[in-house]
Formats: sequence, structure tokens, C-alpha cells
Amino acid sequence: MARAHTQYVCTACGHAEARWHGQCPDCGAWNTLVEEARSAPAAKTARAAAARPVRLADVRSERLPRLPTGIGEFDRVLGGGLVPGSLVLLGGSPGIGKSTLTGMALGHLASTGRSTLYVSGEESPAQIRLRAERLGEGALEVPVLAETDLGTVLATLEAERPDVCVIDSVQTLHAAELTGAPGSVGQVREVASRVMGVAKSIGTAVLLVGHVTKEGALAGPRVLEHLVDCVLQFEGERERTYRTVRALKNRFGSTSETGVFEMRSGGLVEVLDASARFVGEATGKPGSVVLAAMEGTRPLLVEVQALVSPSELVPPRRACTGIDRNRLALVLAVLGRHAGVGVGTADVFVNVAGGIRIDEPGADLAVALAVASAARGVPLQGSPRACFGEVGLTGELRTVAHQERRREEAAKFGLRDVICPERVPTLREALRMALRSDAEERPRAA
Ligand code: TYD
Ligand code: MG
Repeated sequence: MARAHTQYVCTACGHAEARWHGQCPDCGAWNTLVEEARSAPAAKTARAAAARPVRLADVRSERLPRLPTGIGEFDRVLGGGLVPGSLVLLGGSPGIGKSTLTGMALGHLASTGRSTLYVSGEESPAQIRLRAERLGEGALEVPVLAETDLGTVLATLEAERPDVCVIDSVQTLHAAELTGAPGSVGQVREVASRVMGVAKSIGTAVLLVGHVTKEGALAGPRVLEHLVDCVLQFEGERERTYRTVRALKNRFGSTSETGVFEMRSGGLVEVLDASARFVGEATGKPGSVVLAAMEGTRPLLVEVQALVSPSELVPPRRACTGIDRNRLALVLAVLGRHAGVGVGTADVFVNVAGGIRIDEPGADLAVALAVASAARGVPLQGSPRACFGEVGLTGELRTVAHQERRREEAAKFGLRDVICPERVPTLREALRMALRSDAEERPRAA
């Protein structure tokens, strides 16, 4: 009986069933049963011997060796390169450049004498070659395996023992033991855990590519986050120039680093002067504000744009890209309640230029200034300015981390006048300072 090898386990309560059910018969949760390989029954009678815990001070700590991928921005996010034997999950929406990035990394590694392997379950060797031709010389040195059977991939991995292996993608591999379709939760978990087992035993660093849809409906990758050593997210929009790689989890480094890339005809190019570009492109028109943001430990100047336009819609539209919707709602509420800028009957659009996503509270003030500037139709006054700061619910400006570095970065690009919580205590005063000429608050708002 084929079924005997697998069982369906509820991810909510752990209850196991021989067949799939839509609702867990035990805890009643819906759609939580996931197929798993049945492990050999443990010998209950043998009593395990006790192990001896070791005092942390006595644990030998070795500096982790690293395999630099040769792509500076990528290495920084990884914490200095790939750690041998580690499992890194690279998630991102289709077409964002995952195959390009991993192909380039392997190419660099191959040209520095490392052994590599590129396993693709999505493309034929001819297709992969076509891409590699655009990525420079090393990329053509990488051995490829077009295969979707997990057993074959693992056997090849053990035979070849490469330093670094890319599996593109985890959703296309298929464990023959499970009846579920490739990409199903059970399959993805099985694939990842067995790849990890092999990778750890032979010391191969594995980059596991995973597709993540925009809606975040990622049957696959999310369930792997606890398992892998490092989770990287590749973000950006296909139509936009800039893409970012950030670490959501990293056992060997910081999770606050971000790499910025640009897709060109020759692959992904690191953007080292991101601030300069964004400041250069900032329009300085009403609704345009430069934000001194932090991307991990690195300051980054970005342009925040807003458009406020009268609307017939009830409720009016609130659309944003690059910032959190809830933060926008909060900032609009504080603007109306505490700073005299009501946008109740207008559509509000807020955009971080270049497709960059900023998720830190320091962006609040820039959003507020951009919206106020757009609502009043006046540009920021005075010399070119940058700003940062969190907006509190009572209309105060709150201190955020790394003020010095933000200010230095702004000064580096000629923005010496920085509006921040250290200079102005409230949003109302920040508006007065930024939109001076028209800042006498209009009486209409509460
Ligand atoms: P790809 O890496 O295949 O994306 P993913 O693996 O995440 O699905 O490539 C994404 C897009 O990038 C693809 O539509 C073509 C484009 N591209 C370039 O613009 N320049 C290049 O050098 C390469 C290799 C791809
Ligand atoms: Mg791909």
C-alpha cells in the first residue's frame, strides 16, 4: 500500500491521520493537514543514555569560515559570505532576479576555484546557459543539473560534494515518497529538511530558491523559515529599476542589512551610490521630501512623494508603495488631529521613489511632510532638506536610532538642513519650519 509510507499531520495540533481531511478531526482546524513521510517507529524499550551539558565558557568557538560570493551587497547581507554547510533560503516573486543573482554568485565562486553546482527544476540547461552568457565568464563554468527528483539531486550532491550548491527552486523538487504535488507544504518541508541533512553532512553551503507570491501566499517558503539558517528576501517590482535583498533571519549575521541592486542587460548590478541617485532624482516639487532612512546599519537617502487629490470616493483612496499602510493611516490621522492638515475628503497616494521599501518608524515625518506639502501645494521651503523622525499619537516627534549617521549622510549630499525630533518637538512645529511661507495653520481643521 503506497499510503503506508506517509501520514497527514495537523500543523496546528500534531494529530496524525492516514488520509487527508479538510478539517482536522482532532482540533477542528481547517486546511492544516500536511503530508509527511512516516518515520520508522522508534524502539520504545531502549532507554536513551543521558548526555553531558557543557558550560558555555568551555565550548570551543571557531571563527566561521566564509565563502565570499564576490557580490559585495549580497555578501554583506549574508554577514560576510556563505557559511559552509549552511542552508540559505532566498525568497522572492517570480521574475525578480533570483536565478540571476544565484547564477552570478556561483559564477564568481567558480572563477575563484570553488566547486559549484546549479540544480534547476524550472529551466533546461539550454535556457540556463542563455542566461549565464549574459552574466560574464565565470557563470559558464558552473555545472548544471536539470532535475526535479529529490533522490537524484541528493545522490548527485553526495557524489559531487560541491562547496556551494543552488537549488532553483525548492517548489519544483519532488520527493517520491510523498504523494503530494511539488510545491505543496509537505513536499517543500520534506525537500528542505532532506537537503539540509545532506548539506550539513558534506559541508556544502546550499542556496535554496523559493517563490513567494506578492500576496504572501507562500505555500512553500514560510514553512521553512524555522528550519534554515538564513532567510533572505528579494524585493522590488519587476518594472522598477531597484531591487533589494534583505535578511529576515540570519544565524550567522545581522538581520538589518540590505543590499541594493539594479537589473541591467548584463545581470544585477550593485548600487553603491544609492543615496546620490535618489537625491539627484528628487524633484523638490510640492509633495517631494528627502528622507534620511536607515537600511540596516547603512544610512540611505530616499525620496518620499505624496499626491493629495480631491475625491468623489467614499471612503477616499489611501494608496502607498514602499511604506506600511498602517503607518500611513496613523500619520494621516495625526496630521488631521494635531497638525491642522485634514485630508478627509481627498485621495492620498504616497510613494517611496525607485521601488525601495522602507519599514522603519523614522519614515513617519517624511510621509507627514510630503502629504502636508502636497495638500497645500507648496514645496519644502529653504535650502534642500532632509528629515527623519517617528510621529507619535499625540502629535509629538519621537527620537529614532542612528541620528548621527542619518545627519552625516544627508550632509554628504549637501542637505545640511535636517528636520528631526532633536530640533523640533512636535509635528506641528516641523510643518511650520518646513512649509514656512504657508504655515499659518488654516482654521478649517480640528
Ligand atoms: P530571473 O533571474 O530569471 O528571475 P527569477 O529567477 O527570480 O524568476 O530574471 C528576472 C528578469 O530579469 C527576467 O525577466 C529577465 C531580466 N534580466 C535582465 O534584465 N538582465 C539580465 O542580465 C538577466 C539575466 C535577466
Ligand atoms: Mg528563476
